[in-house]
Amino acid sequence: MRTVAKGEWTLFFNLSIFLFLLLVDCKADFVYNGLEDAYLTLDGAAQVADNGLLSLTDQKNRYEIGHAFFSGPFLFKNNVSTTTPVSFSTTFVFAIISEYGSNLSGQGMAFVIAPQRGLPGAQANQYLGLFNDSNNGKSTNHVLAVELDTVYNVEFDTVMGPHVGIDIDGLSSVNSTSPTYTTNGVSKNLNLISGEPIQVWIEYDGIDKELRVTLAPINVSKPNVPLLSLSRDLSNLFLSSSMYVGFSASTQTVLTSHYILGWSFTIDGKAQPLSLSDLPKLPQPPQPPAPEPPQPKKKKKMNLVLIVVPIIIVLIVLALLISICVYYKRRRNRNRTEAPPAELVPEPREMIDTTSRELNNWPRNFSYNELKEATKGFSEEEDIGRGGFGTVYRGVLPNSKLQVAIKKVSCDARQGSKQFLAEIASIGKLRHRNLVTLFGYCVHEGQLLLVYEFMPNLSLDKFIYPKRGSLSSNLDWSKRFHIIKGTASGLYYLHQGWEQVVIHRDIKSSNVLLDAQMNARIGDFGLAKLYDHGAGSGPTSRVVGTPGYIAPEMPQIGIPSTETDVYAFGAFLLEVATGRRPNLVVERGLGLVNWVSSCMKENALLNAVDPRLGGEYVVQEMVLVLKLGLLCCHNNPASRPSMFKVMQLLDGDANLRSLDRSDDAPSDFGTAVRESPSPLSSVNTASTFSASEASPSGIREVVTY
Ligand SMILES: *[C@@H]1O[C@H](CO)[C@@H](O)[C@H](O)[C@H]1NC(C)=O
Ligand SMILES: *[C@@H]1O[C@H](CO)[C@@H](O)[C@H](O)[C@H]1NC(C)=O
Ligand SMILES: *[C@@H]1O[C@H](CO)[C@@H](O)[C@H](O)[C@H]1NC(C)=O
Ligand SMILES: *[C@@H]1O[C@H](CO)[C@@H](O)[C@H](O)[C@H]1NC(C)=O
Ligand SMILES: *[C@@H]1O[C@H](CO)[C@@H](O)[C@H](O)[C@H]1NC(C)=O
Repeated sequence: MRTVAKGEWTLFFNLSIFLFLLLVDCKADFVYNGLEDAYLTLDGAAQVADNGLLSLTDQKNRYEIGHAFFSGPFLFKNNVSTTTPVSFSTTFVFAIISEYGSNLSGQGMAFVIAPQRGLPGAQANQYLGLFNDSNNGKSTNHVLAVELDTVYNVEFDTVMGPHVGIDIDGLSSVNSTSPTYTTNGVSKNLNLISGEPIQVWIEYDGIDKELRVTLAPINVSKPNVPLLSLSRDLSNLFLSSSMYVGFSASTQTVLTSHYILGWSFTIDGKAQPLSLSDLPKLPQPPQPPAPEPPQPKKKKKMNLVLIVVPIIIVLIVLALLISICVYYKRRRNRNRTEAPPAELVPEPREMIDTTSRELNNWPRNFSYNELKEATKGFSEEEDIGRGGFGTVYRGVLPNSKLQVAIKKVSCDARQGSKQFLAEIASIGKLRHRNLVTLFGYCVHEGQLLLVYEFMPNLSLDKFIYPKRGSLSSNLDWSKRFHIIKGTASGLYYLHQGWEQVVIHRDIKSSNVLLDAQMNARIGDFGLAKLYDHGAGSGPTSRVVGTPGYIAPEMPQIGIPSTETDVYAFGAFLLEVATGRRPNLVVERGLGLVNWVSSCMKENALLNAVDPRLGGEYVVQEMVLVLKLGLLCCHNNPASRPSMFKVMQLLDGDANLRSLDRSDDAPSDFGTAVRESPSPLSSVNTASTFSASEASPSGIREVVTY
């Protein structure tokens, strides 16, 4: 059975196992020009389209994994006759298409030889669906992979940027390099994410014990020089029992499809060539709307319609603009007089209105000199803080006199890459009145400078944790509640209000900044993602959050999600209400979440309230915030509310009673709340506790600030 035509494999399969067992020097192969009839075992997101295109991942979800293995086993090791070393050879055509076209992709794919049909327990992201945190690098895996990885990962990769690597039992490649190919003696770069089909040849010669990997665009014949090679006896890697061949792919935050168009494989021989003209067609990427072609000027042929219609349109547009202006002016006046604005309906897509010309071409690429001048040469006087990502300076832009905050982030060699700039552009597009606006950026000598709107009141933690010994707080409850609602609205926009889901990963009081009117503005959003795309270097670049705000499932799953953000938001709620840090033991050896929970179980929820409020707060709101905080910090991610639900609850549109059903929120507390159909609709002073009634008596301050 030297040649098995496509589709006939299944018929021959049982026979072939029989032959494997009988024949010593057995040969087996298959060739698929399109995989519609291929004998495959698929799992995860993998599927074969009617036209024969195999997609390992589709663009439906983030953090996908897909496997496609040839269902029949192969013997890679021959312990019957040691004089017959086992060689193998394969060639396949792949293409990677992402939502960002050739600018950005994630994560990558691999050809795999493994002991079973599939790779159970494997993780997405940088693990490529091959391994997981615990089995990565273990020799018990018996896995050989050739990875086509589009993203540099500091943990595993030595090549900055997209790379091809040979992996043995782990993701730290034993040989890897940037993708190139040679044609007519000239070496050329190859873009793995161009969306164009690329052919790969992988060959292992059992006699000289060399593995060779070669790549070329589909219209270029196989280069003579391999891209990668590895001299190694693989007999210890392959099990004596049967092994399986296939593909694995994984994605992360960028929606990406990994396609296989055709595949040929041979044990003990040269893989049969693919018939490139018979391969299935790739789906056409959605074309961006074509720019209007400039209308050639018509020569005095205008009729009446052509004149009247534009005039009417202009008039309508003008009328609309005027009414919008009037609306906003009224709104703004109203907001100035009534504090805080009580918004019942979340308006996630509302753009912040701005008067600055700086914002018109965001995110702008600033010159280094401009920023140097703005910060008086990055003088220490202008240093206003150190965040998780770098130092922040205050500055005044020389031309516009606009006050800005400039964040210096050290980054590595990939700083100027297209992917990186695309990421900054996408962060710059996030606009919401509860997010800090990103004006622009500048890349200079291994440093990334991000230019943000200046927040005169800095960050919330400075208000919740005032200097030691001061018992009064200048942040009363109504301001705190307003800030909580603003933060919820900003996070809701990141999660559900934009075209992409943006996971913040580090919600905490020091990342909630305050503008001049003490409105909450979330900062540092998107930076964690930027780090994924190579801004970070060194061990700090894996941003997983801040202790105390990290959801309990994070260490196992390792993948931040909207649920882990909601957990951090819950810890933030408890922090604002209690004035205690989530990462420290509060009392009786309990962390903040468990301590508030124990207060509630003892029917003494209000004992948890921040003593610095002096007992001045609206009970319903306080109870709501504490209970909602506990619900958001539920151990089971599925029990945590979405940010939409959180918004509804905070706006009083949903009843707190729905919270009382949760295990963590017993219904035997807060009669005032249960009597009111909408807990926040009637806020009256009568329900404000006086200090003597509510002041917690038995609370010992264990926390030191
Ligand atoms: C090959 O090796 C395996 C395990 O080492 C053994 O079980 C099997 O019997 C061997 N096959 C032959 C034909 O010796
Ligand atoms: C990709 O980058 C090019 C130029 O760098 C840009 O014109 C294009 O809009 C980008 N595409 C997407 C989807 O961001
Ligand atoms: C990692 O993969 C191994 C092998 O498939 C599996 O047994 C193990 O349960 C996985 N571990 C985790 C934490 O998923
Ligand atoms: C291969 O195709 C690309 C575009 O699809 C073209 O730019 C290139 O010149 C072609 N190369 C050869 C050798 O035909
Ligand atoms: C990696 O592959 C290259 C290209 O074939 C080769 O020159 C080099 O020796 C290989 N390195 C190792 C460690 O095998």
